[in-house]
Amino acid sequence: MATERLDKILGNACGISRSELKKLAKKGAVKLNGKPVFDLSEKAEAQLSVIELNGEIVNTSKFIYIMQNKPKGVVSASASDSDLTVVDILPEDLQRKGLFPAGRLDKDTTGFVLITNDGAFAHRILSPSNHVPKTYLARLDKACSDEHISVLEGGMTLKDGARFKPASVKALNGERTLAEVVICEGKYHQIKRMFKAVGLEVIELKRIKIGGLSLDSELSEGSSREIGAEELKLIEKN
Ligand code: URA
Repeated sequence: MATERLDKILGNACGISRSELKKLAKKGAVKLNGKPVFDLSEKAEAQLSVIELNGEIVNTSKFIYIMQNKPKGVVSASASDSDLTVVDILPEDLQRKGLFPAGRLDKDTTGFVLITNDGAFAHRILSPSNHVPKTYLARLDKACSDEHISVLEGGMTLKDGARFKPASVKALNGERTLAEVVICEGKYHQIKRMFKAVGLEVIELKRIKIGGLSLDSELSEGSSREIGAEELKLIEKN
């Protein structure tokens, strides 16, 4: 495996600039295999070394997978000139180069966004042919009847020609204004358009699960955390 300069490894792993890292190294904040390194042009093999920054071991693995509880008003993109993005609101320790959301939620939708720098993984979980289910809670303006549900569950072709595969829909409360919806596609405004087509309006929408991995109930809106290896497997295991 190739060696790389420590400032490059740390920059990729932590998203900290080279000049900032230089200052930290001068203060003795960077250690390689337990020993302080003052010159970050020194090279190391990231996967075989223990690199510490400010007393914490740095995760130098190539890919990172992050669960975010997206708040309203934040866009599912890596960068935007006009809006705050899901990547902008990540804490510094989760920032990496090349992060992007694997799948989009509307600006006013909240809940589980998976952010990663692993393009192949994102492709796998988003490809409709892999049928990774995405589970949402939809608050509706009116009661969702059994007739509505059977239309939504039958698969739909809208007047504009858009086709949606069968969804799974369950009314959750007595008034039937809260529904759990599971879809395996991620078409533009899909759930809002599906309900609109049967005469119901989605007032609030939250994604609560991707594949077999549920949004961590401890994660407040706007917070993010890394997804562990075992949890990651649940995404593709439904
Ligand atoms: N369906 C929608 O209508 N909006 C989302 O954000 C996700 C699914």
